[in-house]
Amino acid sequence: MAENQQKLVHTFGALAELGNEVSQKNNFQEMIRTSLHLLLGSLGIMRGGVARYSRFGHELNLLALRGLGEEFPLSLSLCYEDERQFLINGTVPIEVSQAKVLPFFQNYDHSLTAKKVELLVPLVIRDELVGVVLLGEKANGESYSSYDKDIISAMTRHVGVGIAQRNLMAELERRAEENRRLYDDLRMTYKDTVKAFARAIDCKDKYTEGHSVRVGKYSEIIAAELGYDENQMEGVAVAGYLHDVGKLTVERNIINSPVRINAKESAELNKHPAIGYEILLPINHPYTDVPLAAKYHHERLDGRGYPDELYDRDIPYIAKIVCLADSFDAMTTDRPYKRRRPAHEVIEDLQYNAGKQFAPELVTAFCGAMLKEITLETKQKRFRRLLGREYLEAEGIAPLLKNALNDMNGTSSLTLVNFD
Ligand SMILES: [Fe+2]
Ligand SMILES: [Fe+2]
Repeated sequence: MAENQQKLVHTFGALAELGNEVSQKNNFQEMIRTSLHLLLGSLGIMRGGVARYSRFGHELNLLALRGLGEEFPLSLSLCYEDERQFLINGTVPIEVSQAKVLPFFQNYDHSLTAKKVELLVPLVIRDELVGVVLLGEKANGESYSSYDKDIISAMTRHVGVGIAQRNLMAELERRAEENRRLYDDLRMTYKDTVKAFARAIDCKDKYTEGHSVRVGKYSEIIAAELGYDENQMEGVAVAGYLHDVGKLTVERNIINSPVRINAKESAELNKHPAIGYEILLPINHPYTDVPLAAKYHHERLDGRGYPDELYDRDIPYIAKIVCLADSFDAMTTDRPYKRRRPAHEVIEDLQYNAGKQFAPELVTAFCGAMLKEITLETKQKRFRRLLGREYLEAEGIAPLLKNALNDMNGTSSLTLVNFD
């Protein structure tokens, strides 16, 4: 009796330790290895192994083994009949000698006999087979008692729970990964659609071909210079691509007029920011402020812009970025009634209008980005690609930019962008 009590205390100690292992170990492999050692050690079992069941491959893959030798197969196939029987059986140990009719025992009879595997314990958790524990003979040569089997059953259940938890985690990770991929696909589709839209807007205006696409790119340059993260940069670029979407509803002959348009036509054209806002508002953009950028990209800091004659702080920041990109493109591309302005003139214009039309810190950021490219401080060729090398590297541009950057006060009031 005293011996039995001692045994009981000993096995319960092992069980408690095992439970602890399963719940605490982050390292799955190590948890399985330790659990096996505890199991073998507590009952004095010579050898054994823990295998995880793969329902995709219908196989048992050994995760930990002790004393089974190198030639023991690390992967064991299961037939439908084996799986069915294991499931019915549950976590009760099966004596190998009693189960020879099952295909599994016939297929692996040689390996099981050679290593004196006596017991096989299916790990069934919530009616699912998650693995199997193989156990060799006891060190004292005795056969397994029903008491031993009860202990084994209880201890292997813990191992089964550990494997089931791991399976659940893997499944969750797989689904999270799948979601991530779906989201990326969706995001790509959104970006492609935005670009296609920008090209469609630009198609309508034959004199300013590529304008929306360029404004998107200049806006992105400014956002990068401001240190925005990838998401915010993308949002700003999208706002640039779509800023003139309202022009889709303006009559083609007004947009394509080879001469300066009259006041009535001009009023018609000036509706495009408000119309753009209406078009973009119902769309569920992944980034905020895209419709606001369309609505307010013709506002000026000094309140002389349109449609609402907003002042500095009232203009959404993203609209200020797009405004600068938009005006810069308008000055640096040919229009039907005027040629593009030379680079030095454009820089002087930006400098002059910093604080009047444009947010000064944005002009500073923009000029800084341009200078970095001219002086090869950066290897990027964003401006070069958009403006042409000769235009950007015209004589005297670098010193002009340096002077502008020294002179400009980049500390105007700053309305923060709200990306929430
Ligand atoms: Fe516009
Ligand atoms: Fe524009």
